[in-house]
Amino acid sequence: MIKVAIVVGSTRPGRKADAVARWVHDIAKKRSDAEYEVVDLQDFNLPLLDEPFPPSMGKYTLPHTKAWAAKVAAYDAYVFVTPEYNHSTSGALKNALDYLYAEWNNKAAGFVAYGSAGGVRAVEHLRLIAAELQMATVRAQVQLSLFTDFESFAVFKPDPHKEKSVNAMLDQLVSWGTALQTVRVKK
Ligand SMILES: Cc1cc2nc3c(=O)[nH]c(=O)nc-3n(C[C@H](O)[C@H](O)[C@H](O)COP(=O)(O)O)c2cc1C
Repeated sequence: MIKVAIVVGSTRPGRKADAVARWVHDIAKKRSDAEYEVVDLQDFNLPLLDEPFPPSMGKYTLPHTKAWAAKVAAYDAYVFVTPEYNHSTSGALKNALDYLYAEWNNKAAGFVAYGSAGGVRAVEHLRLIAAELQMATVRAQVQLSLFTDFESFAVFKPDPHKEKSVNAMLDQLVSWGTALQTVRVKK
């Protein structure tokens, strides 16, 4: 069975990302096709990328990079829970992605986004970034609206129908995440 990380993509005080990630996790836990865990960027306290070598060289020198790399390496697929900031993802999530390379390669990624337009522009950017990191991004995505899935734009109260879109995304993610295990070279 593959391991899936549900990545909390905002570190902002008062962020919505943690409530959204918990909701995704609660839905995922009802499934028996993978092991699902929440991975919170806040727990890794990553500074703006401060490694001297490009991540593709695999020469990580700093303890926070090594801790983040070890965590990411433990998973076969990722659900990125992302806000939309200025029509893209958060700086915190982009930075966390930039830190590593091999740990992301040949793995699957799915997206749960929120914003005034369902976070779709953040996901479009993330798909380009993920492609450069050699990740396979699944088509089905979850789009949450700040207008209808949050009370007063603040408290997360998702439309119950959105659960279906989480499961549709996870169906594709587990399928590709499982298939991609075969192309990864075991070290
Ligand atoms: C710097 C910044 C830029 C934002 N830009 C957008 C945007 O382009 N589109 C959008 O729909 N919402 C935008 N928002 C609103 C966010 O979607 C909303 O604040 C959301 O709660 C942020 O996620 P978080 O609370 O998990 O950090 C922006 C918010 C911030 C802080």
